[in-house]
Amino acid sequence: MKSINHIAIIMDGNGRWAKAQGKIRTAGHLVGAENVRTIAIAANRLGVKHLTLYAFSTENWQRSQEEVSYIMKLPAIFFKKYMKEFIDRGFRMEIIGELEQLPKSTKEVLLEAEEESKQNKGLHLSICMNYGGQSETVIAAKRYAKALQENPKLELTMDNFHEFLLTKNLPPVDLMIRTGGEERISNYLPWQLAYAELMFVQESWPEFSEEVLKNCIEKYKHRNRRFGGVKE
Ligand code: IPE
Ligand code: IPE
Ligand code: MG
Repeated sequence: MKSINHIAIIMDGNGRWAKAQGKIRTAGHLVGAENVRTIAIAANRLGVKHLTLYAFSTENWQRSQEEVSYIMKLPAIFFKKYMKEFIDRGFRMEIIGELEQLPKSTKEVLLEAEEESKQNKGLHLSICMNYGGQSETVIAAKRYAKALQENPKLELTMDNFHEFLLTKNLPPVDLMIRTGGEERISNYLPWQLAYAELMFVQESWPEFSEEVLKNCIEKYKHRNRRFGGVKE
């Protein structure tokens, strides 16, 4: 049976889900954060090695100050509750994004989760926080330019380009799932998604369950990945 190495998820639809329940948008973000635990445990159980979640994009600053500041408080709430459990489960957390722009306390909590779990060998759980693929590409270009000053012979190739990315520790994505019904990438992982299978599900992120994840993996196993070649 085909195994699945890397799943990336755009956790979308929290706000619409909350509105449909007669609640304010931030209530959706809180339930969404709880669902990160459920789905990380499920993915681990289903044999996924890398799970990469889009939590906040470089474009999400455009939202109301109230919503943004609520989202920035969620990592502290979340890791206070689940950090020990995640470490006990062997999860290795990685935080991906332009962290210097986050509030100091948010950044500290996130980096602490990364630091405390760095020896773990289980599920590699990456949280993309203030991440945007286009901005990441510009950062990579600047990092290369800087490296070139130190080593004028340094070539840029398909093989070493990813070393300059914020996502340098991520393998290629096998399956990208977006919840919430929209069918777009919204600036997520352009380099690693190059040959990913894409799935767009109607369930919003707070409704996305182990059952739906299992269905996605089952469907993935029937996809014919050709990588530009020919397979009968
Ligand atoms: C995803 O849900 C979470 C973030 C982008 C932070 P949304 O907040 O985008 O929810 P919808 O898409 O407005 O329903
Ligand atoms: C993508 O969702 C970002 C995250 C889930 C963190 P958005 O809700 O920001 O995307 P758009 O605006 O619908 O494209
Ligand atoms: Mg959205």
